[in-house]
Amino acid sequence: MARFPSLSTAGNAVPASIFARLREHLARFEGDVIPLQIGDTHLSPPAALPDVPWTDPADLYAYGAPGGWAPLVEALVTKARTKNGIDVTAAGVQIAVGATHALSCAVQALCDRGDELVLLTPHWPLIKGIALAHDVVPVEVPFWGDIAVTPRTAAIYVATPNNPDGAMLDAAARERIVATACAHDLWILSDEVYEDYGYDAEHVSLATLAPERTITVFSFAKSYAQAGLRVGYALGPDAAIAAIRKLVNHSVYNVPVAMQRAALAALRDGDAFLTGARARYRAARDRARARLHAPADRPPGGAYLWVDFSRWGADCMPVLEKIAAAGVLLAPGWAFGDACGSHARLCFTGVAEERLDEGIDRINRVLATL
Ligand SMILES: Cc1ncc(COP(=O)(O)O)c(C=O)c1O
Repeated sequence: MARFPSLSTAGNAVPASIFARLREHLARFEGDVIPLQIGDTHLSPPAALPDVPWTDPADLYAYGAPGGWAPLVEALVTKARTKNGIDVTAAGVQIAVGATHALSCAVQALCDRGDELVLLTPHWPLIKGIALAHDVVPVEVPFWGDIAVTPRTAAIYVATPNNPDGAMLDAAARERIVATACAHDLWILSDEVYEDYGYDAEHVSLATLAPERTITVFSFAKSYAQAGLRVGYALGPDAAIAAIRKLVNHSVYNVPVAMQRAALAALRDGDAFLTGARARYRAARDRARARLHAPADRPPGGAYLWVDFSRWGADCMPVLEKIAAAGVLLAPGWAFGDACGSHARLCFTGVAEERLDEGIDRINRVLATL
């Protein structure tokens, strides 16, 4: 088959950076750019690489176990049982290169080409690209609405607390998802990377209701401010995790052991960090919401305001372009769902409070001109 220079379907289908258009407008701004578009944190992690005792340098350079570094896996077995109420052994834990990689391998393990992956929407943008990369069809359904199931549906993806709107499943919603999954023999892909950042409600893992069909994904990036280390993990039934393990093995072989050691140090020493970060983020959420001259529901969890720009038009890109020209980036709503173009996501954890204020003041000044 003649192929060159055409690319694969997946290579073409996966969306490019959602910020490309806004960066063109940002280029017109000279000065301190305030990045409110990305889900980052300005806090330092509870354990950073220089603090980690490298007692055995050999394991920094040798290949590691594809499933994960044993001490970290063992600590996560305990964490899963005591904190999440998920009863796993080491066979049910898989370390990955961030939650992104865990989700990518999970989608491959659960879905065949042409299968449908239901996305409770608005949804984390990369899950759609992950589906497309594997020829899986993403099907958006409203976060709180009915779940559309067809004979091709293989799994339901949900994030709680959700990115971008911070929504947290309540008991009724959890039961509805599980009932649908059980009635139609579906998998549940539960993205719980914001488990530690519930402010107004308690986080409950979906796997407590349906452990036999739920893959749960967590991240040291979100919990412990270690985004650059790229350590995440999946918990699930042994057979599904065994398949995910093969896919991790065939994509990265193993997650760098040095990074897993830093992750373990954060897990061991990080309780005070979590308490402090949660209080600080909650205050930042309230501060940002009170200051911003555009409506946003109070997110019960997560790291973002889901800002409603609809009074300035059904598509908020022109407003976001003006805001970018003022040196502030927001994430456009269309990346989070086909019907979300009037909204934008503002991260309240990525910069310290004074810069957050300054960024919001710039947004307000743009809105005042419209
Ligand atoms: C809902 C959600 N899932 C997964 C991820 C990816 O996490 P990681 O950085 O561990 O790959 C993110 C990152 O922003 C996210 O918001």
